[in-house]
Amino acid sequence: MDNKREIQLGVNVDHIATLRQARGVNYPDPQQAAQVALDAGADGVTVHLREDRRHIQDHDVINIRKNVALPMNFEMAATEEMLNFAIKTQPHECCIVPEKREELTTEGGLNVQAQSEFLKGYVSKLKRSGALVSLFIDPEISQVDASKEVGADIVELHTGNYAECVDQSMVDSEFSRIKLAAEHAADLGLQVNAGHGLHYENVQKIAAIPELTCLNIGHSIVAYASIHGFHEAVYKMKALMNQV
Ligand code: PXP
Repeated sequence: MDNKREIQLGVNVDHIATLRQARGVNYPDPQQAAQVALDAGADGVTVHLREDRRHIQDHDVINIRKNVALPMNFEMAATEEMLNFAIKTQPHECCIVPEKREELTTEGGLNVQAQSEFLKGYVSKLKRSGALVSLFIDPEISQVDASKEVGADIVELHTGNYAECVDQSMVDSEFSRIKLAAEHAADLGLQVNAGHGLHYENVQKIAAIPELTCLNIGHSIVAYASIHGFHEAVYKMKALMNQV
C-alpha cells in the first residue's frame, strides 16, 4: 500500500484577471480558469480581492464561489469592507494578508505580533462567518506563536524570500526557517500552508516538508500556461481564419 501523503494545490487565479483587466474586456475569465484547475486536479482556488480591485473583481469571487466545486481561499486585507464581503460570500477559508496600494504583489507577511489585540477581535468576527481563518506570515517562530494566540486556524508561510534567494547557502538558510516554522506551527495544532513565488524549479523542496497541507501557487502557473498553451492558441486562430 502507498502511504505517501498527498500535498494539496490551491491555484491562485488572480493573474487571469490581471490579463483581462489590462484590456477592460470580459476574457479570460477567472471562473473558467478555476474550472480548468479543478479538472486538472487542483484542490482549491485562491482569489485576492484587493482594495484597488486591480485584478479580481467582486463578481469573480461571487461567481467562483457559486459555480466552481472547489474550496475557496479568499485572500483579504483586515478591513471592515473585506469582513463584510467575506460574511456575504462565505468562502471556506479567509487568508489575511498585509496590503499596500503601491506594491506589485503581497510583500512580506502580516506582523501578527504587532497588532495582536486588533487581530484577535478581527479573527473572531471572521470565524463567526463560518470560515477557517489563515494568516499569511513570515516563517518566524514569534509570528507563529502570535498567530496561535490570536485564534488563527491556519498559518500560510511566506515563501517569497526562499524563492528570491540567489545563492545556495541563502536558499538553505531560508528553507530551514520555513521548515522550523512549519514544525512549530504543526506542534501548536495549526494547519500549515505555504506560498508565494513558488515555481516549477523550486516547489519540490518545499512540497517535501511533511507538516505542509497546501501550497498556494498562481503566477508561475499562469506564466507556464501562457507559453505552453500558445501553440494551440496560434494553431486554432490560423485554422479558423482559413475555414471561411
Ligand atoms: N499566497 C499569498 C498569501 C499570496 O498573496 C500570493 C500572491 O497573491 C500567493 C500565495 C501566490 O503567489 P504566486 O502568485 O507568486 O504564486
